[in-house]
Amino acid sequence: MNIPVKNNVSWVGKIDWDLRKFHGNELSTHRGSTYNSYLIREEKIALIDTVWGPFAKEYVKNLSSEIDLKNIDYVIANHGETDHSGALPELMRQIPDTPVYCTANGVKSLKGQYHEEWDFKVVKTGDRLSLGKKELVFIEAPMLHWPDSMFCYLTGDNILFSNDAFGEHLASEFMFNDLVDTSELMYEALKYYANILTPFSALVEKKIKDVLALNLPVDIICTSHGVIWRKNPKQIIESYLKWANKYKENQITILYDTMWSGTRVMAEQIAKGITQGDASVTVKLVNIGHSDKNDAITEVFKSKAILVGSPTINKGILTAVASLLEELRGLGFKDKKAAAFGCYGWSGESVHLLNEHLKVAGFTMVDEGLKLLWNPDDSGRNACIEYGKILAKKL
Ligand code: FEO
Repeated sequence: MNIPVKNNVSWVGKIDWDLRKFHGNELSTHRGSTYNSYLIREEKIALIDTVWGPFAKEYVKNLSSEIDLKNIDYVIANHGETDHSGALPELMRQIPDTPVYCTANGVKSLKGQYHEEWDFKVVKTGDRLSLGKKELVFIEAPMLHWPDSMFCYLTGDNILFSNDAFGEHLASEFMFNDLVDTSELMYEALKYYANILTPFSALVEKKIKDVLALNLPVDIICTSHGVIWRKNPKQIIESYLKWANKYKENQITILYDTMWSGTRVMAEQIAKGITQGDASVTVKLVNIGHSDKNDAITEVFKSKAILVGSPTINKGILTAVASLLEELRGLGFKDKKAAAFGCYGWSGESVHLLNEHLKVAGFTMVDEGLKLLWNPDDSGRNACIEYGKILAKKL
């Protein structure tokens, strides 16, 4: 499958309609994904990135129908993660002497994964590779999102090949941002940022500013996942700058799990109180016991504050809540507030534990939280509503 991008640039990747989990089982991908690989046929021929290993044979076969592989002059590995480099061993078996351009960390990553001594050519920011009349300009992008990550830019066609940055997990035959549903596209781009790039937000902002300072005109952004940004590509750059800067909407998300519905009733009554206290705020309830973890994280990303609820079990908290808290700790959200709640029957440690976990995860605690003995009765329900009202005014 070959999709023309512009002039002598074409997409030669793989659309993975079936993908539902990524990074092992860490990330949900409800709309599939794509592994984007690009072929540039100027006087010299360059191949940018490949596809995930399970599709290696299919990819190389397809590529062979596009071009005699021996005519590829340069392989560019913008990133060593296996979803982009997985077909390199299959490809390089056929063209073992073709140089592979990547960062110094890219060499470590590729050697570490494939144990092959390919003809690596290490590049740094500002290095250029002539393709004839046009050039590829390399831009290191460490920790966006691996140490080896790199962008490259094609002069003349003004295309930025950004690898993971600006991507999203979205399978589509249309492959261009102006041809797909905008709300689906932007939700998936935001989910991708929230779940993968949040820890690197300071670097995202700096790298975008560095790239903008190069004053390279960008007509198209070719990412390595999802669609190609050809209509107003600046929109995704502007979104990234917004998302990287302590992003929040006027939203409060209540995340909870429950055993016998006591903590669920608390969640619902607190939500009612928040709405009574501030009708303008969006309140969302997420039962994380049977909701998708990454969709829940996406709601956290959009929120100015979260409430986390769990009943007490075995002097602790429910495991779905504990799992979410570990994810929140790793992502390191900035400038968000939090509070805890939960019901209990006897020892009642959960709220204290939730407070401690949320503090470690970097949230600013609004108060000591709300705990109720046994199932909420009318007075308990009213306490939740009042708590919600007061909270709404504090947030
Ligand atoms: Fe899409 Fe970091 O690999």
